[in-house]
Amino acid sequence: MTPSTSETKSRKRLFIRTYGCQMNVYDSERMRDLLIPLGYEPAEAPEGADLVILNTCHIREKAAEKVYSELGRLKPLKEEKQAAGGQMTITVAGCVAQAEGAEIQRRAPVVDLVVGPQTYHRLPELIARVHRERGEALETEFEAEEKFDALAAPKRHVEGYTAFVTVQEGCDKFCSFCVVPYTRGAEYSRPAAQITAEVRALAAQGVREITLLGQNVNAYSGEPPAGEEAGGRWGLARLIRHLALIGGIERIRFTTSHPNDMDDELITAFGGEEKLMPYLHLPVQSGSDRILKAMNRKHSSAQYAALIARLREIRPDIAMSGDFIVGFPGEQESDFEATLRLVEEIGYASAFSFKYSRRPGTPGAAMAGQVDEAVMAERLARLQALLDTQQQAFNASMVGRKLPVLFEREGRNPGQLGGRSPYLQAVHCDGPTGLIGHIAMVEILSASKNALGARLLNGESCAA
Ligand code: 5AD
Ligand code: SF4
Repeated sequence: MTPSTSETKSRKRLFIRTYGCQMNVYDSERMRDLLIPLGYEPAEAPEGADLVILNTCHIREKAAEKVYSELGRLKPLKEEKQAAGGQMTITVAGCVAQAEGAEIQRRAPVVDLVVGPQTYHRLPELIARVHRERGEALETEFEAEEKFDALAAPKRHVEGYTAFVTVQEGCDKFCSFCVVPYTRGAEYSRPAAQITAEVRALAAQGVREITLLGQNVNAYSGEPPAGEEAGGRWGLARLIRHLALIGGIERIRFTTSHPNDMDDELITAFGGEEKLMPYLHLPVQSGSDRILKAMNRKHSSAQYAALIARLREIRPDIAMSGDFIVGFPGEQESDFEATLRLVEEIGYASAFSFKYSRRPGTPGAAMAGQVDEAVMAERLARLQALLDTQQQAFNASMVGRKLPVLFEREGRNPGQLGGRSPYLQAVHCDGPTGLIGHIAMVEILSASKNALGARLLNGESCAA
């Protein structure tokens, strides 16, 4: 794919910093794969890099502000590079780029290029334009338009045995606190054939576990592969069953889901599809019906609890995870207590919780009753204490159990391996490095809040 001309040139250094969600991690890898054939080589640090990409997150104010402080740190590095006769091209990609556009270059002139999540495929061409405007010689690779077409589906380079695969992007839900429908745009599902080809290629490179990604992944509604059920679209459950047939793929997960898109087929898949892992991230945000309504979530707290009860009927051991926001406008102590009660009722294996962050342009930002920062901090601490206790208890309940673990890497201590349980818990276990990339049975010996300790059970079967 790389022409011989570039082989004689020294490779340019590319540094990508990723903020935010797993979708951004996936996008960063795709940008890297797009740029490697153009002569870039991934670098571990921004110092001396020819191209720096900040792949940004706009979900909460703190996340967006981090980008500006990073740009401040990059400025002297860019100047140093220039003083040495080189050029550092600084690109802001991702959701901050989408939301703030050209404003970024006004606020941080150090930035050369701003590119939103929908235009990554144009990155080579846009970088070429920056070079041209600076009067630099063009890379031959950048000139040929047909080259961009050839790069439309660059080869994925994976390291390791687990991989993310984006199957759906964007969101039409418009929760009143959330920027995603504005930054990532309307819901779009990739055709099933394209996803299948990508997963096959991953399996051929040794990947054993895939996590299907989407801002609203269980709203997946994709074009079926040619010749399959012509006319009808495939939902997520159908896609999962199809991907489960691919040899080498042992485990499938998906994230993130909306309660209203958990259809019967998907719920039942947790009982029937053995490669689908018993772990579900299902954000509820609040346990108060009044707040859920103001958030435009379109379901009640009782409906959410009933959905989880159904999931547990099908798959009693399913590990539940969620997202919570404290201090949404109008939240009273009584609303917050309803959240604590819901958490008590569900019992989470893990969860993420945040203080409400006022995002410009969202309906929530204009609502009356914005909650005081100190009140939010106090509520968040109480909620996190409860969630931590539940996580600890969930992990402790594993002690003495035998579990299949997918070993992914060497552990921190010599002779140790690190992997994941079906419930996405980190597991440490002494064992031979030859087990990396394989699933093996272990007995859980100890548990902390963030990990399990285990011993290998030699020779026992390990159907995941
Ligand atoms: N403030 C705080 N948390 C937010 N989230 C999304 N928007 C906001 C906001 N404005 C949280 C939600 C969502 C997760 C990805 O981030 O809990 O599920
Ligand atoms: Fe944001 Fe998720 Fe609501 Fe979509 S469903 S608007 S991504 S919180």
